[in-house]
Amino acid sequence: MIVFDRKTNCFFLHGKSFSCVLWIDPNGYLTDLHFGGRVGEDDLRAFDMRTRPVSFAPTPPDSDHWFSLDIAAQEYGSYGQGDFRAPSVIIERQDGSRASRFHYAGHRIYAGVPALGGLPCARKGKETLEITLRDVLSDAEIVLNYSLFEDSDVIARNAVIRNRGKDPIFLPRAYSFCLDLEEGGYDAVCLQGRHCAERMPERTPLGHGAYSVSSSRGASSHQMNPFLALLSKDADEDRGEAVGALLVYSGSFLLSAETSQTGSVRLQGGINDLGFRAKLEGGEEFITPQALLCRTEGGIGQLSREYADFLRGYILPPAYVHAPRPVVVNNWEATYFDFNREKLCALADRAAELGIDTLVLDDGWFGKRNDDTSGLGDWFVNEKKLSGGLAPIVDHCREKGLKFGLWFEPEMISEDSDLYRVHPDWAIGKAPRCTGRNQLVLDMTRKEIVDHVFSRMADILGRYGVSYVKWDMNRHITEFFSAELPADRQGEFAHRYILGVYSLADRLTKAFPQVFFEGCSGGGGRFDAGMLYYFPQFWTSDDTDAFERVKIQWGTSYCYPLSAMSCHVSVCPNHQTGRTTPFFTRGAIASLGAFGYELDLGALTEEEKAAVRAQIAAYRESEPLVQSGDLYRISDPFKGNRFCVAVVSKEKSRAIVVGMQIHAVPADTDHRIRLKGLDAGKRYLVEELGYAARGDTLMNAGLLLPRLPDFGCFVWHLKEA
Ligand code: GLA
Repeated sequence: MIVFDRKTNCFFLHGKSFSCVLWIDPNGYLTDLHFGGRVGEDDLRAFDMRTRPVSFAPTPPDSDHWFSLDIAAQEYGSYGQGDFRAPSVIIERQDGSRASRFHYAGHRIYAGVPALGGLPCARKGKETLEITLRDVLSDAEIVLNYSLFEDSDVIARNAVIRNRGKDPIFLPRAYSFCLDLEEGGYDAVCLQGRHCAERMPERTPLGHGAYSVSSSRGASSHQMNPFLALLSKDADEDRGEAVGALLVYSGSFLLSAETSQTGSVRLQGGINDLGFRAKLEGGEEFITPQALLCRTEGGIGQLSREYADFLRGYILPPAYVHAPRPVVVNNWEATYFDFNREKLCALADRAAELGIDTLVLDDGWFGKRNDDTSGLGDWFVNEKKLSGGLAPIVDHCREKGLKFGLWFEPEMISEDSDLYRVHPDWAIGKAPRCTGRNQLVLDMTRKEIVDHVFSRMADILGRYGVSYVKWDMNRHITEFFSAELPADRQGEFAHRYILGVYSLADRLTKAFPQVFFEGCSGGGGRFDAGMLYYFPQFWTSDDTDAFERVKIQWGTSYCYPLSAMSCHVSVCPNHQTGRTTPFFTRGAIASLGAFGYELDLGALTEEEKAAVRAQIAAYRESEPLVQSGDLYRISDPFKGNRFCVAVVSKEKSRAIVVGMQIHAVPADTDHRIRLKGLDAGKRYLVEELGYAARGDTLMNAGLLLPRLPDFGCFVWHLKEA
């Protein structure tokens, strides 16, 4: 609920369990009085202390109410008027002056959510508060959007900056949101990583000064996810205050938490301002990406469940969120580039026998591509490699009752490609350019290039009745330069690039609503809420080792739903680590996401084939939980010798518990797994143990951990008895 109180000039935004109170102070500044648990609307004296005068007020003061920008909790930090913390926006005028003083100019409250001009954002919502601020010192205007959602502790925010004058202005910085938290004393939690080890949680105490996480790679990146949480010192998995910021954005980003002289913390961010500089001609506006802020008092676990519900309810493509996902076999780890029609048809035969429903043909089916040095951009079937083209393979799949999927890397171009020979200027940057994985990047800021890629992909998808696309992106951007942009707009390149990617994804998913799209970026290098708006799932990591996946999936679940994580059973010794884990373990861990296979099915033993059939049947049974249930993280694989999670249905009538013993321990004593998230009063049958107990017993006394070998897994299915 959003309320504006005219008597006090306060806005009250009430979520499921939080309240946000904003105040237009007598000078006209928009300040933050409260972001925390619920508060009443008549109890404003509780916030009186925020109006104490200190120093650095405009001279002469705008009113006799003294106010200091140096310490005030601002809704959007300005620059050059006495707020010495990092500003949220910098407005640069033609004469080079950059100070701005934003005052409240009006507001409106309306049902629903704003559209953000080509940026992915919440598809629907309950109501939105739109506050307009005007710069006393320039012609800039800022619109701050705050949207609330039914039964949710997420608040969606962004800022729109407008130039109401005639002369151009420049924005060397334009963040999406700013949240000044008065008390401070938090730890920051980020998801850092690298290729094959994405989204590893890291908790760092905040000291004075700024802590920030960012990507300057033109993609949200493997190295840092666009997510930052602040946890009170006493907060853990299940308890304590957690404030999260998750960007619905896939490009270079920055999120920072700055502890001020008073100990307050300014959490803010959006587009990374490294290399960024947007130009606004008179009448133009710049729309910043949406940030999803969330506050809970149930620790990082509750924060994760709030984000999972939110992404499923408001961001992911609605038609696919709860629909059964295709169980695929992908040929990448089975063949890499070394395949032909016979090998693929044999893989399809085995897949059909085992109950797999889709064959996904990965990299190497197009252009002249037998390794990663050539062919990107030439989205024509390589008939030399696949005699007779794709049609016989697709037909063969169809005869066997299988669907067919294809890999694309739409944003890329190889120097050794027909496309590059005709259009060398379509690559971004200036020669000599940096290659990454031997490839260059297409200039997705240019409409004719996006149109070309669309028409090539649309031709292939339509011609072969493709039902699944794996959209990859295997290198980061080094030269942020487009030959078509004027010099004073090159600072917009990175953002325009990602807008081009979004427009292509939007057009393709709308033109082919029956095609299931999976995102990928050298594994999980662009696993973010922006991409999940178009693609219901994302390839979680190129590391398919079950133990590594336990860690990667654990971290990913901090702010993304399980069903967004694409997870495959692969061969052992594992191709990334050389490690051998039990086949059962690989299935159990992959079943905690969108499930599939990535190995040579022809090389399976009879026992493994039987296991595949059983795994698929088990996955189909637990799929509704993976798609819609609540995740409870029980044993942290980063902290101990065990991993365990429970996924509980919303009505708490079913649950699945999956655990792993990382290393076997000789002469170990008994350990218990205390379950979480059950209904204390309900009785549950633990099917595998043939044992029934009340929810509170299972949560407080727990269940004995089975004795298991290295990387051994257990799976328990609980049903209300
Ligand atoms: C990336 C993907 C892999 C595979 C290869 C193909 O690394 O993450 O799954 O598709 O590209 O080149």
